[in-house]
Amino acid sequence: MQPETIKTQQPDLTGAAPAARLHQVAAFAGLSADQTAHLAQPSNIERSIADHMIENMVTTLAIPVGVATGLLVDGQEVMVPLAIEETSIVSFVTDSARKCRPAGGITTSMSGTVMIAQIQLVHVPDPYRTRTLILERRDEIGALCDACDPTLLRMGGGFRDIEVRIIDTAAGPMVVLHLLIDTRDAMGANTVNTMAEAVAPRLKEWTGAQPLLRILSNLADRRLARAHATWRPADIGGEAVRDAIVLAYRFADADPYRATTNNKGIMNGISAVVLATGNDTRAVEAGAHAYAARSGRYRSLSQWEVDAEGNLCGSIELPMAVGLVGGATRTHPTARVLLAITGAKTAEGLARIIAAVGLVQNFGALHALTTDGIQKGHMARHASNVAIDAGAVGEDVAQVAQEMIARRSINVETAKAILAERQSQRAD
Ligand code: MEV
Repeated sequence: MQPETIKTQQPDLTGAAPAARLHQVAAFAGLSADQTAHLAQPSNIERSIADHMIENMVTTLAIPVGVATGLLVDGQEVMVPLAIEETSIVSFVTDSARKCRPAGGITTSMSGTVMIAQIQLVHVPDPYRTRTLILERRDEIGALCDACDPTLLRMGGGFRDIEVRIIDTAAGPMVVLHLLIDTRDAMGANTVNTMAEAVAPRLKEWTGAQPLLRILSNLADRRLARAHATWRPADIGGEAVRDAIVLAYRFADADPYRATTNNKGIMNGISAVVLATGNDTRAVEAGAHAYAARSGRYRSLSQWEVDAEGNLCGSIELPMAVGLVGGATRTHPTARVLLAITGAKTAEGLARIIAAVGLVQNFGALHALTTDGIQKGHMARHASNVAIDAGAVGEDVAQVAQEMIARRSINVETAKAILAERQSQRAD
């Protein structure tokens, strides 16, 4: 089979200067002049806003934001902003997304937008009776929860159900109540924590048991985002590459040492979008890694197999607690504009795009690892960074980097020597 031209209506940003790229992205995403002007300022958060976000704020840290293009997600053309300091990640997403377009792009789904809040009850002599007493109060608990957030109720969210678990601990049995709350477009941490704090005192009244922790669970397994995509062998370098990617996956799935690195690669894409959109990277990361270990062994978050037609199929499923309202998503002006680039109108839509990014990022890493190795792509950028470190500016950066690669010696000493040679040539 011959590779088809991998068509996309999206601009190819490679080669353009950052300002030109920004205008191409703005035109594609329909950003306003104000939004575009905002992104043109690299340090685009005012001190006064940052000061309200955390305590003892003294400065802000700028991270590059690249835009991955060429994603076809559920039939929609999608561009994705990635806030990340590491080279190759944006290229992996872009290249891998383009390569699965001939087979239809990426298909996504979501299990729901339900978050879990936990209330821990300690020193419970009669855990089974306590569990039953709590289950009998389900409707009252639901009413207490819904009274905490009328806005969420108006948005179609709110209390969905309870679960009561008895867990054995080194300190004896504990009863744990889970509140299942549909938080819709909010990530929901504040909402469900408020509800847990409202319900806890009533549990004491009803059961006599002592509530202790009242906090959400970041193992958001009622909020699973899923993505799958197909790559034809002709578009990825042939059947040998396809089979090597499956073997690489099998390695990750069998060995926690490899699985950790494999999943780190997936999170390179995922955390970068989570950060760019002002969401909580730690929440998503904790949920992802816990989900990867749900069988009792830490495994790959993705699965790779060959379908009946001989194509490579990748799938991913992981908790994705992200929101569009509340928190930094709203307060950080840059996050708001970057979110607009994704085109996501709901938290579910954003979560699905993020799962798609995780999957294609994993494809990109496995493709590189099973073919040229990872260093080839990294080296050019790494060499540029070393050249900058050595004092190169302007066109010297690329020239010094290229020369270091040619000399197979990428370090600050070599960069300084090449810079000095270039300066003396200019002086002649
Ligand atoms: C590097 O940041 C990520 C990779 O190590 C991922 C992987 O090994 O799958 C390349």
